[in-house]
Amino acid sequence: MNTPVSIRSQGDIAIVTLDNPPVNAISAAVRKALWQAVEEIDADPNLRAAILICQGRTFIAGADVREFGQTPEPPHLPDLVDHLEAARVPWIAAIHGTALGGGFEIAMGCRFRVAPPQAKIGLPEVTLGIIPGASGTVRTPRLAGVEVAVDLVTTGKPMAAPKAHALGLIDAVIEGDLEAGAMAFATEALSKALPAPISARPVSTMGEAFWEAQRTRAAKPGHRAPLEALTAIRRATELPFAQAMAAERESFLALRASDEAAALRAVFFAERAAPRPEALRDVTPRKLAQVGVVGGGTMGAGIAAALRNAGLPVVLIERDADALERGIDTLRRTFEGAIKRGKLTEAARDALMAGVTGVTDYAALSDCDLVIEAVFEKLSVKREVFERLVAQCRPDAILATNTSYIDPREIFEGLPGAERCIGLHFFSPAQIMKLLEIVPLPETSTEVLATAFALAKQLSKVPVRAGICEGFIGNRILKRYRSEAESLLRAGVPIADVDAAMRGYGFRMGPFEAQDLGGLDIAYLQREGARAAGQDVPETLGDILVGAGRKGQKTGGGWYDYSQGDRSPRPSEQVAELLAPHLSKGAPMAEAEIAEHLVGALADEGRAILAEGIADRASDIDLVEIHGYGFPRWKGGPMFASGHRD
Ligand code: 3HC
Ligand code: NAI
Repeated sequence: MNTPVSIRSQGDIAIVTLDNPPVNAISAAVRKALWQAVEEIDADPNLRAAILICQGRTFIAGADVREFGQTPEPPHLPDLVDHLEAARVPWIAAIHGTALGGGFEIAMGCRFRVAPPQAKIGLPEVTLGIIPGASGTVRTPRLAGVEVAVDLVTTGKPMAAPKAHALGLIDAVIEGDLEAGAMAFATEALSKALPAPISARPVSTMGEAFWEAQRTRAAKPGHRAPLEALTAIRRATELPFAQAMAAERESFLALRASDEAAALRAVFFAERAAPRPEALRDVTPRKLAQVGVVGGGTMGAGIAAALRNAGLPVVLIERDADALERGIDTLRRTFEGAIKRGKLTEAARDALMAGVTGVTDYAALSDCDLVIEAVFEKLSVKREVFERLVAQCRPDAILATNTSYIDPREIFEGLPGAERCIGLHFFSPAQIMKLLEIVPLPETSTEVLATAFALAKQLSKVPVRAGICEGFIGNRILKRYRSEAESLLRAGVPIADVDAAMRGYGFRMGPFEAQDLGGLDIAYLQREGARAAGQDVPETLGDILVGAGRKGQKTGGGWYDYSQGDRSPRPSEQVAELLAPHLSKGAPMAEAEIAEHLVGALADEGRAILAEGIADRASDIDLVEIHGYGFPRWKGGPMFASGHRD
């Protein structure tokens, strides 16, 4: 029978190798096999220690999340961790890659933990809407103290091995071959007295003030798990080990069955499905050594920053010296912002800036493997840019447009080499927003498409394939969202109620506040353009406001009034007067009903997008909304929230 665990021995030390691709997740089969390995090794009197090591890219990545919807099969993970700890021989976890969640809990069942410097450990359960369920909240404070446990468990952030070593979470950092290093460590450890198993170690109690401060720090709107995790750690400091374990398990199982956890799991799998379209499975992406960016405005500078952050040399081109200076300045300010937030050193900023060549002459793009255009949203300007790019770039260079609305087929029409053309739709601010809509033309080659997906990975973005239609996936849904929000106003719902309802649902801002921040004029100009082209675009309430000079915060008011230097929205009498003739007097609507109506509209547009083949999966639409438009991750996206599953 195939087993994921194999055992061999070297002298009196057993080497237990776990091989459960792709990430050695702890499935029921793995739990059974490890349980049996403990028994077999304990039964062999010649063995004095066991090293647990993994095949493949990583140590154990945690419990098998795919099993979370099913009835758990014994042996349960907490029992396995206890079983490892109670074994006759000491176990040593040799960790490469990442030991996450249940993976780190298994490692804590071992008497020792060793890892190379590149390895990471962590308890990321809260990111899946749950808390550790196999002693993470109970053993970690006994191993490394309450503060370390609180940090690890409530943030879910992984920690690099050297820091984990300094904090006592692992016993040694191993340079060179991990197995050989673990063997040497085991031999040395056997020559000394063994430390107590973690469950038998003391744990300190903390005062009320500590827990109060941690509650404030850990609380996250819409998320139950971080505070539950904190409570579990507190229990671990106040109750006997076994009772704290039982309470942790109970809380873990309750959260695992929650809507929040189901949504976060769905997003976890969606994020892993989107970057790997089936059609590109066997296609090798091209290597990108240098990338050109045309236009150094809001988007161009942001895209250049994203490329530099990923280590790619950039040629930034502007239309004249003044515009170039502004573009380079915007880019520098982007990095300054990162310095202020403590995310970048000045030396790193200088290195990033040194990798940017600012030019006004298109000839400098002749060596670029990819050029991304981010000039004004005007077809004639874009076509002129691409004509020059065709003349100056290598014939195989990939040509991409960051257009928001213009049909890329029109932008590239008649230009030679349509197979190398593609839409790469970034979101503002491009160095921060995770979403990248990838918009192939009918002629785009699979190699170019695969390169776009590989670029997204290099930039740590979430790529979603979008078909061609007005606004692609995201902006098309946004248009519907805004129009439905306006229809609520027309029915008599106050502006502030709509915004409050969407904030209550989990968005950082409601639809009207968000428009005030971004500016009402962009969508207005787009509608005007369509009207000028002869399309029948009915007047929106936003048009009325723009007509009165109310373009948002930048003009001191849009849907709301703003005082200079203050971003807090205040209801506007002028808006009330301007809109009064267009609004009916309706009954008030409950916040939940408003949110249900608007999320329903997002999903409804999403279903149309799916039916037209503009998106490949419902979960891709959810990713677009979460990573591009602030939809709350813990609600899973509009499709998931509306019960639409792939
Ligand atoms: N369960 C099931 N499948 C998993 C998994 C898990 N815990 N972790 C990753 N996978 C799958 C992915 O879905 C993907 O599958 P696919 O190839 O079919 O799409 C494959 O493994 C590879 O994953 P990535 O693309 O993410 O690979 P990377 O090499 O980029 O990253 C990783 C590896 C850092 C381990 C990353 O996968 C990760 O962070 N995994 C999740 C870790 C986690 O959250 N663990 C906690 C689980 S909950 C738990 O343990 C509860 C316990 O306390 C009881
Ligand atoms: P912007 O007006 O801030 O920047 C455009 C820049 O292009 C200007 O700096 C201008 O000098 C430069 N430019 C114009 N013609 C040029 C030429 N021939 N050669 C070189 N540079 C030239 O505009 P923004 O907001 O950066 O938008 C750029 C593109 O990105 C548009 O297509 C827009 O639709 C799209 N986009 C915008 C988003 C946003 O939130 N602003 C989001 C996603 C896409």
